Amino acid sequence: MAHDDVNYDPFDYALHDDPYQVYRRLRDEAPVFHNARFDFWALSRYDDCLAAVRNFGLFSSAQGTTLEPLKAQLPVLINADPPVHTRMRHLIAGLFTPAKVAVLEDNVRTLARTLLAPHRDAGRIDIITDFAAKLPMAIICRLLGFPSADEDKLRDWTDTVVHRDEGVFEMPDEGMHATIALFGYFDEDMKRRAGEPPRDDIIAALMAAEAAGELTHEEVLGYIFILSIAGNETTTKLIGNMVFQLHRHPDQLALLRADPALLPSAIEETMRFDGPTQMMARTTTREVELHGRTIPAGAKVALLFTCANRDERKYEHAEMYDIRRNPRDHLGFGGGLHACLGAALARLEAKVAMEELLAMMGDFAVDEAGLQRMHSPQVRGFTHVPVTFTA
Ligand code: HEM
Repeated sequence: MAHDDVNYDPFDYALHDDPYQVYRRLRDEAPVFHNARFDFWALSRYDDCLAAVRNFGLFSSAQGTTLEPLKAQLPVLINADPPVHTRMRHLIAGLFTPAKVAVLEDNVRTLARTLLAPHRDAGRIDIITDFAAKLPMAIICRLLGFPSADEDKLRDWTDTVVHRDEGVFEMPDEGMHATIALFGYFDEDMKRRAGEPPRDDIIAALMAAEAAGELTHEEVLGYIFILSIAGNETTTKLIGNMVFQLHRHPDQLALLRADPALLPSAIEETMRFDGPTQMMARTTTREVELHGRTIPAGAKVALLFTCANRDERKYEHAEMYDIRRNPRDHLGFGGGLHACLGAALARLEAKVAMEELLAMMGDFAVDEAGLQRMHSPQVRGFTHVPVTFTA
Protein backbone atom coordinates (compact mmCIF):
# COMPACT_ATOMS: atom_id res chain seq x y z
CA MET A 1 0.00 0.00 0.00
CA ALA A 2 1.42 3.41 -1.00
CA HIS A 3 0.60 5.24 2.16
CA ASP A 4 4.06 5.96 3.55
CA ASP A 5 3.91 9.68 2.90
CA VAL A 6 0.34 10.29 4.09
CA ASN A 7 0.38 11.73 7.56
CA TYR A 8 -2.57 12.38 9.84
CA ASP A 9 -1.67 14.39 12.95
CA PRO A 10 -4.74 15.83 14.69
CA PHE A 11 -2.50 17.86 17.01
CA ASP A 12 -1.08 19.84 14.07
CA TYR A 13 -2.74 23.28 13.78
CA ALA A 14 -2.22 23.25 9.99
CA LEU A 15 -4.53 20.24 9.73
CA HIS A 16 -7.25 22.15 11.57
CA ASP A 17 -7.28 24.77 8.78
CA ASP A 18 -8.09 22.16 6.15
CA PRO A 19 -8.11 18.47 7.00
CA TYR A 20 -10.06 17.40 3.94
CA GLN A 21 -7.13 16.86 1.52
CA VAL A 22 -5.45 14.62 4.09
CA TYR A 23 -8.75 12.86 4.73
CA ARG A 24 -9.19 12.00 1.04
CA ARG A 25 -5.72 10.50 0.88
CA LEU A 26 -6.34 8.49 4.03
CA ARG A 27 -9.54 7.00 2.60
CA ASP A 28 -7.91 6.20 -0.72
CA GLU A 29 -4.36 5.26 0.25
CA ALA A 30 -4.32 4.36 3.92
CA PRO A 31 -7.78 3.34 5.16
CA VAL A 32 -6.10 1.75 8.18
CA PHE A 33 -3.52 4.37 9.09
CA HIS A 34 -0.94 4.12 11.86
CA ASN A 35 0.52 7.26 13.41
CA ALA A 36 3.89 6.08 14.67
CA ARG A 37 4.71 9.28 16.58
CA PHE A 38 1.71 9.06 18.89
CA ASP A 39 1.09 5.34 18.34
CA PHE A 40 -2.55 5.38 17.36
CA TRP A 41 -4.51 4.09 14.38
CA ALA A 42 -7.17 5.79 12.25
CA LEU A 43 -10.12 4.47 10.25
CA SER A 44 -11.35 6.84 7.58
CA ARG A 45 -13.91 5.08 5.39
CA TYR A 46 -17.63 5.32 6.12
CA ASP A 47 -18.30 1.57 6.26
CA ASP A 48 -15.34 0.95 8.56
CA CYS A 49 -16.29 3.73 11.00
CA LEU A 50 -19.92 2.59 11.04
CA ALA A 51 -18.90 -1.03 11.67
CA ALA A 52 -16.59 0.11 14.48
CA VAL A 53 -19.18 2.20 16.35
CA ARG A 54 -21.55 -0.76 16.13
CA ASN A 55 -19.01 -3.21 17.50
CA PHE A 56 -18.37 -2.07 21.08
CA GLY A 57 -17.10 -5.54 21.96
CA LEU A 58 -14.11 -4.97 19.68
CA PHE A 59 -13.86 -1.16 19.72
CA SER A 60 -14.31 -0.22 23.36
CA SER A 61 -14.97 3.25 24.81
CA ALA A 62 -13.91 2.25 28.33
CA GLN A 63 -10.34 3.59 27.95
CA GLY A 64 -11.74 6.96 26.90
CA THR A 65 -12.75 8.46 23.57
CA THR A 66 -9.79 10.83 23.20
CA LEU A 67 -6.46 9.77 21.74
CA GLU A 68 -4.69 11.00 24.83
CA PRO A 69 -4.71 8.57 27.74
CA LEU A 70 -7.29 9.42 30.39
CA LYS A 71 -5.68 11.48 33.16
CA ALA A 72 -8.38 10.43 35.56
CA GLN A 73 -10.89 7.60 35.25
CA LEU A 74 -14.09 9.67 35.43
CA PRO A 75 -17.33 7.69 35.41
CA VAL A 76 -18.87 9.30 32.32
CA LEU A 77 -21.41 7.81 29.94
CA ILE A 78 -19.32 8.43 26.86
CA ASN A 79 -16.40 6.44 28.33
CA ALA A 80 -18.40 3.36 29.28
CA ASP A 81 -19.26 0.08 27.57
CA PRO A 82 -22.32 -2.04 28.33
CA PRO A 83 -23.61 -2.97 30.84
CA VAL A 84 -22.51 0.24 32.65
CA HIS A 85 -23.32 2.35 29.58
CA THR A 86 -26.76 0.79 29.15
CA ARG A 87 -27.68 1.45 32.79
CA MET A 88 -26.49 5.07 32.66
CA ARG A 89 -27.91 6.03 29.28
CA HIS A 90 -31.32 4.53 29.95
CA LEU A 91 -31.79 6.79 33.01
CA ILE A 92 -32.20 10.07 31.15
CA ALA A 93 -32.32 9.16 27.45
CA GLY A 94 -36.08 9.78 27.60
CA LEU A 95 -35.49 13.48 28.38
CA PHE A 96 -33.75 14.07 25.04
CA THR A 97 -36.16 12.56 22.51
CA PRO A 98 -37.26 14.81 19.61
CA ALA A 99 -40.73 15.11 21.18
CA LYS A 100 -39.30 16.12 24.58
CA VAL A 101 -36.97 18.75 23.15
CA ALA A 102 -39.58 20.15 20.72
CA VAL A 103 -41.30 21.91 23.64
CA LEU A 104 -38.13 23.97 24.16
CA GLU A 105 -38.49 25.66 20.77
CA ASP A 106 -40.18 28.85 22.06
CA ASN A 107 -37.55 29.18 24.77
CA VAL A 108 -34.71 28.76 22.29
CA ARG A 109 -36.28 31.31 19.95
CA THR A 110 -36.83 33.92 22.65
CA LEU A 111 -33.27 33.52 23.78
CA ALA A 112 -31.95 33.72 20.20
CA ARG A 113 -33.89 36.94 19.58
CA THR A 114 -32.66 38.47 22.83
CA LEU A 115 -29.07 37.69 21.88
CA LEU A 116 -29.48 39.09 18.36
CA ALA A 117 -31.40 42.24 19.32
CA PRO A 118 -28.38 44.47 20.11
CA HIS A 119 -26.82 43.64 16.72
CA ARG A 120 -29.87 44.07 14.50
CA ASP A 121 -29.22 47.70 13.56
CA ALA A 122 -25.44 47.53 13.71
CA GLY A 123 -25.08 45.59 10.46
CA ARG A 124 -22.30 43.49 11.94
CA ILE A 125 -22.06 40.59 14.35
CA ASP A 126 -19.54 37.99 15.43
CA ILE A 127 -21.61 34.86 14.89
CA ILE A 128 -19.64 32.97 17.54
CA THR A 129 -18.90 35.37 20.39
CA ASP A 130 -22.09 37.43 20.11
CA PHE A 131 -24.46 34.57 19.48
CA ALA A 132 -23.57 30.93 18.84
CA ALA A 133 -21.29 30.56 21.86
CA LYS A 134 -24.03 31.86 24.14
CA LEU A 135 -27.16 30.10 22.90
CA PRO A 136 -26.36 26.40 23.57
CA MET A 137 -24.75 27.15 26.93
CA ALA A 138 -27.78 29.16 28.00
CA ILE A 139 -30.11 26.32 27.00
CA ILE A 140 -28.08 23.56 28.66
CA CYS A 141 -27.75 25.74 31.80
CA ARG A 142 -31.54 26.07 31.88
CA LEU A 143 -31.99 22.33 31.39
CA LEU A 144 -29.52 21.66 34.18
CA GLY A 145 -31.01 24.39 36.37
CA PHE A 146 -27.86 26.58 36.64
CA PRO A 147 -28.28 30.37 37.10
CA SER A 148 -27.76 32.39 33.93
CA ALA A 149 -25.22 34.54 35.80
CA ASP A 150 -22.88 31.52 35.81
CA GLU A 151 -23.07 30.82 32.05
CA ASP A 152 -19.91 32.75 31.08
CA LYS A 153 -17.85 31.12 33.81
CA LEU A 154 -19.08 27.64 32.87
CA ARG A 155 -18.42 28.26 29.18
CA ASP A 156 -14.86 29.39 29.90
CA TRP A 157 -14.20 26.20 31.83
CA THR A 158 -15.76 23.92 29.21
CA ASP A 159 -13.82 25.67 26.41
CA THR A 160 -10.60 25.15 28.37
CA VAL A 161 -11.35 21.44 28.82
CA VAL A 162 -11.46 20.83 25.05
CA HIS A 163 -8.53 23.09 24.05
CA ARG A 164 -5.18 21.46 23.15
CA ASP A 165 -1.85 23.24 22.70
CA GLU A 166 -0.19 22.71 19.31
CA GLY A 167 1.65 19.42 19.04
CA VAL A 168 0.86 18.53 22.65
CA PHE A 169 -0.64 15.11 23.12
CA GLU A 170 -2.07 15.36 26.61
CA MET A 171 -4.64 17.63 28.19
CA PRO A 172 -2.75 20.75 29.38
CA ASP A 173 -2.78 21.53 33.10
CA GLU A 174 -5.33 24.30 32.54
CA GLY A 175 -7.69 21.65 31.15
CA MET A 176 -7.28 19.58 34.32
CA HIS A 177 -7.85 22.65 36.49
CA ALA A 178 -10.98 23.52 34.53
CA THR A 179 -12.24 19.93 34.89
CA ILE A 180 -11.72 20.08 38.65
CA ALA A 181 -13.43 23.49 38.79
CA LEU A 182 -16.45 22.11 36.91
CA PHE A 183 -16.76 19.07 39.17
CA GLY A 184 -16.48 21.36 42.21
CA TYR A 185 -19.21 23.63 40.82
CA PHE A 186 -21.56 20.68 40.15
CA ASP A 187 -20.93 19.23 43.58
CA GLU A 188 -21.72 22.58 45.24
CA ASP A 189 -24.90 22.87 43.18
CA MET A 190 -26.05 19.44 44.34
CA LYS A 191 -25.25 20.24 47.97
CA ARG A 192 -27.33 23.45 47.74
CA ARG A 193 -30.26 21.50 46.33
CA ALA A 194 -30.26 19.10 49.24
CA GLY A 195 -31.78 21.83 51.44
CA GLU A 196 -34.30 23.08 48.85
CA PRO A 197 -37.65 21.83 47.53
CA PRO A 198 -37.14 19.37 44.61
CA ARG A 199 -36.93 20.92 41.14
CA ASP A 200 -38.00 19.55 37.78
CA ASP A 201 -34.78 19.42 35.77
CA ILE A 202 -32.11 16.98 34.63
CA ILE A 203 -30.01 17.24 37.77
CA ALA A 204 -33.09 16.50 39.86
CA ALA A 205 -33.66 13.36 37.74
CA LEU A 206 -30.02 12.32 38.21
CA MET A 207 -30.19 12.97 41.96
CA ALA A 208 -33.34 10.85 42.17
CA ALA A 209 -31.42 8.05 40.41
CA GLU A 210 -28.63 8.44 42.96
CA ALA A 211 -31.13 8.28 45.82
CA ALA A 212 -32.59 5.10 44.29
CA GLY A 213 -29.12 3.54 44.15
CA GLU A 214 -29.05 3.53 40.33
CA LEU A 215 -26.10 5.95 40.03
CA THR A 216 -23.19 6.73 42.34
CA HIS A 217 -22.49 10.34 43.30
CA GLU A 218 -19.43 10.38 41.01
CA GLU A 219 -21.52 9.05 38.14
CA VAL A 220 -24.02 11.90 38.62
CA LEU A 221 -21.17 14.43 38.54
CA GLY A 222 -19.71 12.73 35.45
CA TYR A 223 -23.12 12.87 33.76
CA ILE A 224 -23.52 16.60 34.38
CA PHE A 225 -19.95 17.09 33.16
CA ILE A 226 -20.52 15.35 29.82
CA LEU A 227 -23.84 17.13 29.27
CA SER A 228 -22.19 20.52 29.83
CA ILE A 229 -19.22 19.76 27.59
CA ALA A 230 -21.01 18.00 24.74
CA GLY A 231 -23.92 20.41 24.52
CA ASN A 232 -21.84 23.56 24.43
CA GLU A 233 -18.89 23.57 22.09
CA THR A 234 -20.25 21.38 19.31
CA THR A 235 -23.54 23.18 18.70
CA THR A 236 -21.73 26.53 18.74
CA LYS A 237 -19.34 25.25 16.11
CA LEU A 238 -22.13 23.82 13.96
CA ILE A 239 -23.83 27.23 13.72
CA GLY A 240 -20.51 28.93 12.87
CA ASN A 241 -19.58 26.31 10.28
CA MET A 242 -23.02 26.60 8.67
CA VAL A 243 -22.88 30.39 8.33
CA PHE A 244 -19.40 30.00 6.82
CA GLN A 245 -20.45 27.30 4.34
CA LEU A 246 -23.49 29.32 3.22
CA HIS A 247 -21.22 32.34 2.74
CA ARG A 248 -18.82 30.22 0.67
CA HIS A 249 -21.66 28.65 -1.35
CA PRO A 250 -23.96 31.52 -2.41
CA ASP A 251 -25.88 29.19 -4.73
CA GLN A 252 -26.82 27.04 -1.72
CA LEU A 253 -27.78 30.09 0.32
CA ALA A 254 -30.03 31.21 -2.54
CA LEU A 255 -31.70 27.78 -2.58
CA LEU A 256 -32.33 28.01 1.15
CA ARG A 257 -33.70 31.55 0.90
CA ALA A 258 -36.03 30.43 -1.89
CA ASP A 259 -37.22 27.38 0.05
CA PRO A 260 -36.83 27.70 3.84
CA ALA A 261 -38.27 24.19 4.23
CA LEU A 262 -34.80 23.00 3.15
CA LEU A 263 -33.32 24.11 6.46
CA PRO A 264 -33.39 20.71 8.26
CA SER A 265 -31.77 19.12 5.20
CA ALA A 266 -29.19 21.95 5.08
CA ILE A 267 -28.33 21.30 8.73
CA GLU A 268 -27.78 17.58 8.04
CA GLU A 269 -25.64 18.46 5.03
CA THR A 270 -23.53 20.85 7.11
CA MET A 271 -23.10 18.10 9.70
CA ARG A 272 -21.96 15.77 6.93
CA PHE A 273 -19.82 18.22 4.98
CA ASP A 274 -18.15 20.12 7.83
CA GLY A 275 -19.44 18.78 11.14
CA PRO A 276 -17.89 19.87 14.43
CA THR A 277 -16.95 16.44 15.80
CA GLN A 278 -14.11 15.29 13.59
CA MET A 279 -13.35 12.05 15.36
CA MET A 280 -13.84 9.95 18.47
CA ALA A 281 -11.42 7.29 19.67
CA ARG A 282 -11.86 3.68 20.75
CA THR A 283 -9.50 1.01 22.09
CA THR A 284 -9.31 -2.44 20.51
CA THR A 285 -10.08 -5.34 22.84
CA ARG A 286 -8.30 -7.82 20.53
CA GLU A 287 -6.36 -7.88 17.26
CA VAL A 288 -8.23 -6.54 14.21
CA GLU A 289 -7.43 -7.46 10.58
CA LEU A 290 -8.65 -4.84 8.12
CA HIS A 291 -7.65 -3.89 4.56
CA GLY A 292 -4.53 -6.02 4.82
CA ARG A 293 -3.26 -4.47 8.05
CA THR A 294 -3.29 -5.73 11.62
CA ILE A 295 -4.26 -3.42 14.46
CA PRO A 296 -3.00 -4.95 17.70
CA ALA A 297 -5.11 -5.51 20.80
CA GLY A 298 -5.16 -2.56 23.19
CA ALA A 299 -4.53 0.01 20.42
CA LYS A 300 -6.12 3.45 20.27
CA VAL A 301 -8.14 3.86 17.08
CA ALA A 302 -9.45 7.22 15.85
CA LEU A 303 -12.77 6.94 14.02
CA LEU A 304 -12.69 9.85 11.59
CA PHE A 305 -16.39 10.68 11.36
CA THR A 306 -16.22 13.80 9.18
CA CYS A 307 -13.71 12.10 6.93
CA ALA A 308 -16.08 9.13 6.60
CA ASN A 309 -18.86 11.61 5.82
CA ARG A 310 -17.00 12.64 2.67
CA ASP A 311 -16.41 9.08 1.52
CA GLU A 312 -17.28 8.82 -2.19
CA ARG A 313 -17.96 5.12 -1.62
CA LYS A 314 -20.97 6.23 0.45
CA TYR A 315 -22.12 9.60 -0.95
CA GLU A 316 -22.18 10.63 -4.57
CA HIS A 317 -20.17 13.85 -5.15
CA ALA A 318 -19.25 13.63 -1.50
CA GLU A 319 -16.95 16.66 -1.66
CA MET A 320 -19.85 18.87 -2.80
CA TYR A 321 -21.95 20.90 -0.37
CA ASP A 322 -25.53 20.26 -1.48
CA ILE A 323 -28.20 21.36 0.97
CA ARG A 324 -30.86 19.27 -0.80
CA ARG A 325 -29.08 16.04 0.01
CA ASN A 326 -30.57 15.46 3.51
CA PRO A 327 -28.01 12.81 4.53
CA ARG A 328 -29.66 11.61 7.76
CA ASP A 329 -27.26 8.67 7.97
CA HIS A 330 -24.09 10.78 8.30
CA LEU A 331 -21.74 10.02 11.21
CA GLY A 332 -21.57 13.60 12.50
CA PHE A 333 -23.48 12.50 15.61
CA GLY A 334 -21.62 9.19 15.75
CA GLY A 335 -23.59 5.95 15.63
CA GLY A 336 -24.33 2.75 17.50
CA LEU A 337 -24.81 2.78 21.27
CA HIS A 338 -23.01 6.07 21.81
CA ALA A 339 -24.85 7.98 19.08
CA CYS A 340 -25.25 11.54 20.32
CA LEU A 341 -27.76 11.77 23.15
CA GLY A 342 -28.32 15.46 22.43
CA ALA A 343 -28.78 15.21 18.64
CA ALA A 344 -32.44 16.30 18.71
CA LEU A 345 -31.56 19.27 20.91
CA ALA A 346 -28.61 20.23 18.68
CA ARG A 347 -30.84 20.03 15.60
CA LEU A 348 -33.49 22.19 17.23
CA GLU A 349 -30.98 24.80 18.38
CA ALA A 350 -29.32 24.93 14.96
CA LYS A 351 -32.69 25.26 13.22
CA VAL A 352 -33.91 28.12 15.40
CA ALA A 353 -30.49 29.82 15.36
CA MET A 354 -30.32 29.73 11.56
CA GLU A 355 -33.95 30.85 11.14
CA GLU A 356 -33.34 33.85 13.36
CA LEU A 357 -29.98 34.70 11.80
CA LEU A 358 -31.29 34.47 8.25
CA ALA A 359 -34.33 36.55 9.20
CA MET A 360 -32.09 39.25 10.66
CA MET A 361 -29.45 39.29 7.93
CA GLY A 362 -30.34 40.31 4.41
CA ASP A 363 -27.24 40.07 2.25
CA PHE A 364 -24.34 39.01 4.41
CA ALA A 365 -20.63 38.35 4.06
CA VAL A 366 -18.15 36.72 6.39
CA ASP A 367 -15.08 38.91 6.91
CA GLU A 368 -12.65 36.09 6.14
CA ALA A 369 -9.63 38.02 7.42
CA GLY A 370 -11.22 38.04 10.86
CA LEU A 371 -11.97 34.31 11.02
CA GLN A 372 -10.27 32.43 13.83
CA ARG A 373 -10.29 28.69 14.43
CA MET A 374 -10.32 26.77 17.65
CA HIS A 375 -7.60 24.15 18.05
CA SER A 376 -8.65 20.75 19.22
CA PRO A 377 -7.85 17.31 17.85
CA GLN A 378 -11.53 16.44 17.94
CA VAL A 379 -13.68 19.52 17.39
CA ARG A 380 -13.49 21.64 14.26
CA GLY A 381 -14.90 25.14 14.12
CA PHE A 382 -14.34 28.84 14.64
CA THR A 383 -13.86 31.01 17.68
CA HIS A 384 -14.63 34.14 15.61
CA VAL A 385 -16.86 34.52 12.56
CA PRO A 386 -17.27 38.25 11.93
CA VAL A 387 -20.11 39.02 9.53
CA THR A 388 -21.42 42.21 7.98
CA PHE A 389 -25.00 42.29 6.76
CA THR A 390 -27.73 44.48 5.38
CA ALA A 391 -31.00 44.71 7.28
C1 HEM B 1 -23.88 19.74 16.72
C2 HEM B 1 -23.79 19.39 17.96
C3 HEM B 1 -23.30 18.05 18.43
C4 HEM B 1 -22.43 17.17 17.84
C5 HEM B 1 -21.69 17.35 16.52
C6 HEM B 1 -22.32 16.02 18.70
C7 HEM B 1 -21.56 14.92 18.41
C8 HEM B 1 -21.55 13.76 19.17
C9 HEM B 1 -20.89 12.54 18.79
C10 HEM B 1 -20.11 12.31 17.50
C11 HEM B 1 -21.09 11.63 19.77
C12 HEM B 1 -20.63 10.18 19.79
C13 HEM B 1 -19.44 9.95 20.68
C14 HEM B 1 -18.81 8.59 20.50
O1 HEM B 1 -19.16 7.85 19.59
O2 HEM B 1 -17.88 8.28 21.27
C15 HEM B 1 -21.86 12.30 20.80
C16 HEM B 1 -22.25 11.73 21.98
C17 HEM B 1 -22.88 12.44 22.98
N1 HEM B 1 -23.45 13.70 22.89
FE1 HEM B 1 -23.37 14.92 21.31
N2 HEM B 1 -23.09 16.24 19.80
C18 HEM B 1 -23.72 17.44 19.68
C19 HEM B 1 -24.60 18.02 20.56
C20 HEM B 1 -24.92 17.52 21.80
C21 HEM B 1 -25.77 18.15 22.76
C22 HEM B 1 -26.53 19.46 22.56
C23 HEM B 1 -25.74 17.37 23.86
C24 HEM B 1 -26.42 17.64 25.18
C25 HEM B 1 -27.43 17.35 25.63
C26 HEM B 1 -24.93 16.22 23.58
C27 HEM B 1 -24.68 15.16 24.43
C28 HEM B 1 -24.00 14.00 24.10
C29 HEM B 1 -23.79 12.91 25.02
C30 HEM B 1 -24.24 12.85 26.47
C31 HEM B 1 -23.09 11.92 24.32
C32 HEM B 1 -22.63 10.56 24.84
C33 HEM B 1 -23.65 9.52 24.49
C34 HEM B 1 -23.24 8.13 24.90
O3 HEM B 1 -22.07 7.88 25.18
O4 HEM B 1 -24.14 7.27 24.95
N3 HEM B 1 -24.44 16.34 22.31
N4 HEM B 1 -22.14 13.60 20.39
